[in-house]
Amino acid sequence: MYKPVEIAKGIYNVGCRDWDIRDFHGYSTYQGTTYNAFLIVDEKIVLVDAVKKEFTQELLDNISAIVDPAKIDMVVSNHTEMDHTGALPALMDRIGIEKPVFCSKMGEKNLKEHFTGNLNLRSITDGEDLSIGQRTLTFIETKMLHWPDSMFTYIKNEGILFSSDAFGQHYAGDAMFDDEAGEEIMSHAAKYFANILLNYAPRVEQLLATVKDSGMKISMICPDHGILWRKDPGVIIDAYARWSRQECEPKALILFDTMWESTAAMARQVARGIESQGVGVRIMNTRKCHRSDIMTEMLDSKALVVGSPTLNNGIFPVVADVMTYIKGLRPKNRMAAAFGSYGWSGEAVKILNREFETMGLEIVTPGLAVKYVPDADDLARSFEMGETIGQKINTAFAKGKPIT
Ligand code: FEO
Repeated sequence: MYKPVEIAKGIYNVGCRDWDIRDFHGYSTYQGTTYNAFLIVDEKIVLVDAVKKEFTQELLDNISAIVDPAKIDMVVSNHTEMDHTGALPALMDRIGIEKPVFCSKMGEKNLKEHFTGNLNLRSITDGEDLSIGQRTLTFIETKMLHWPDSMFTYIKNEGILFSSDAFGQHYAGDAMFDDEAGEEIMSHAAKYFANILLNYAPRVEQLLATVKDSGMKISMICPDHGILWRKDPGVIIDAYARWSRQECEPKALILFDTMWESTAAMARQVARGIESQGVGVRIMNTRKCHRSDIMTEMLDSKALVVGSPTLNNGIFPVVADVMTYIKGLRPKNRMAAAFGSYGWSGEAVKILNREFETMGLEIVTPGLAVKYVPDADDLARSFEMGETIGQKINTAFAKGKPIT
């Protein structure tokens, strides 16, 4: 458990580390996660966000190390999802059920739909200020980042932003701050963005523009998951700007499943063809790689290349699973191509192309279907398909098209 850490004068992280979690509703969390919660000790004592239900006692212990929970004057709930509110009912019993819980209007609605009982919910308006003594809290609605109820809480005086899920990472470790975690934390942040926020990329862009125009001073960003950005919050803000514009690298992501190694053999040749054009490649077997890791590679890949055998007139189940997942996260401005082996009916490539169309991706080759086992000619055609994809990617970058 964390000892509460004073992250700024009179402000403490009283959250918890979840070392054991490996599957966060379908997102692989190989390094666990954290549920950060923040105690602000001013003339009023404020708790910003809570933790998952299972960690209620740990949160209470952490708060108690600073102050008697009954002395908390108010709670802010930036987001209703239960990793940040599960502890709320039991917590409010200790704090005092009559104490106000500030949240967005949708937060009020959603909290009522999650928890029975009589929480004293107070909905805020976007941009509303609340004085707590020396400090003033400003509430900023961030609808659909990533729930309708999401909001930020900002301390004007110190430029500290409590950003709920945004700018977070599923990470549990010794580090609590960016300067302690090092570069490696960016891969966790990228995975978080790819899997939680990519489908709301236009809203992220809009929010960043609003923040920039407002001239808000941001000295520290405190998300509810992972490390806090105190050394250089600009690093994660710039990364969010890039990711929300869906900027890519000259790189292709090849996903495949295979029945008797035929589609796998094609995948390797397609990859060689792409690499022959100096373009980067990642090959991921959908039955062996977690969909959330696949999505992380998708974040900066210019092309999505999918291989599937035909099974029962359709595509392979795990490929379908991953395609559904990717589609929901709405990658834009990317190229796509399909390939696969078949025995008799051979619908997989057509089905994948239809999926690409629905996703609004640019299909750069008609695709390649090979009967049963690819022979030398089929493998050569697979290589050529890869060359074509590589060339198209190079052309897109050379043209100075926005790499988006
Ligand atoms: Fe970390 Fe959307 O909850």
